[in-house]
Formats: sequence, structure tokens, C-alpha cells
Amino acid sequence: MNALELLSHSPVMPVIVIQDTASAVDLARALVAGGIRSLEVTLRSAAALDAIRAIRDQVPDALVGVGTVRTPRQLDDALRAGACFGVSPGLTPNLARAARSAGIPFLPGVATASEAMQAADWGFTAQKLFPAEAVGGAALLKAWHGPLPDLMFCPTGGIHAGNAAGYLALPNVGCVGGSWLTPSQAVAGRDWNAITQLALQACALAK
Ligand code: 3PG
Repeated sequence: MNALELLSHSPVMPVIVIQDTASAVDLARALVAGGIRSLEVTLRSAAALDAIRAIRDQVPDALVGVGTVRTPRQLDDALRAGACFGVSPGLTPNLARAARSAGIPFLPGVATASEAMQAADWGFTAQKLFPAEAVGGAALLKAWHGPLPDLMFCPTGGIHAGNAAGYLALPNVGCVGGSWLTPSQAVAGRDWNAITQLALQACALAK
């Protein structure tokens, strides 16, 4: 799978923070049951790498990747844990080199046209617009489509059930990302049914 194929794998990529490794597999299964198959487990908790490992081993229908990657070392650790793709809030030359040589789908974060062009120079034509709502949202992506027609985006940051469809209708949006599918209260309360319902609603947005 390449990065463009990753963007079309699921209309919504949940941005997941896992505090408790024991919940990771059930959470992943709840999302898959609702039709969401690409899961971004962020490196924002101590449990992240173990969670990636557990999902990779026990939820074969999920495509698990790593998010919030800032350094080559973090990318390497996540790949060893079994991450199939990577996502970053930005891009540095060191990270670009590491991601390129890792040969996995990788979405660098961009927020300006110059950053999008620099990431494209490194070979990343599928990118994460971050933080999407704060930097211009759907209007920005619409404006970029003219001068940057070959770039595809996964906007994240401030996206929810109420505004996701507007992004998904754009020709340069492959999928959207967000944390709204995994509310911390539902995860802490192990309310997997609520998460499956949110996943089903998210999939319906794309239709
Ligand atoms: C990300 O890392 O992609 C964002 O923090 C997700 O943003 P959200 O919490 O506003 O969905």
C-alpha cells in the first residue's frame, strides 16, 4: 500500500490516544466493527507502542499506524512494534529521510503552501493538513487544489461529525482524521458499542 491508497482505505482515520494497553484490542475491534479500518495510534501516551503491537497481533482487519511521530527514533520504535504507516504533525529533514527509507506510507503534517511544496519535494504527495480548522479548513484546501492539484490531504485538527462531510466532498481530500470517534470518556468506560456507533456514523458521512 502507498500513502495515496492509505487515504482511500477509510473515510475517517481516528486519532487515538491509548492510556491503557488492555483496552487497545477492544477499542480497535469496536472501530473495525463500525467500518473504520485505518487506525492512527498516537505517541502521546506511554502505552502507545504496546497498543500498536497488540492491535497488529490481534486485530488482523485493522491497519494500525503510528501518529505524532516527531523523530526518526520514534518512527523506528513504532515500526518495530508493527506500525504499518506513520503520521506526523510536521516534517523535518531527518524525519523525511527516515520515513522515505522506511518505505511505509507516511503523511507529513503541513499548514502552508510552502510546507506542502517542501513535503512534495521529499516525495510525499499525500499529506496531513494540521491543524486543519485553525489554518483555514476546507476553504484553504479548496484554494490549494488549483496550484497544487497533484497533492492529496488528510485534514485533521478540529474535525468532527458536523464538518467532516464538507472536507470529504473536496477532490483533494482522501480522508479526514480526528479524535471524535474515540471520546476519552467512552474509552475509559469501555463503552465499545458507543464507539462502534460513532464509527458507523463516520462511515456514513462519506456516502
Ligand atoms: C491530530 O493530532 O491529528 C489532532 O490532534 C486531532 O485533532 P482533534 O483532536 O481536533 O480531532
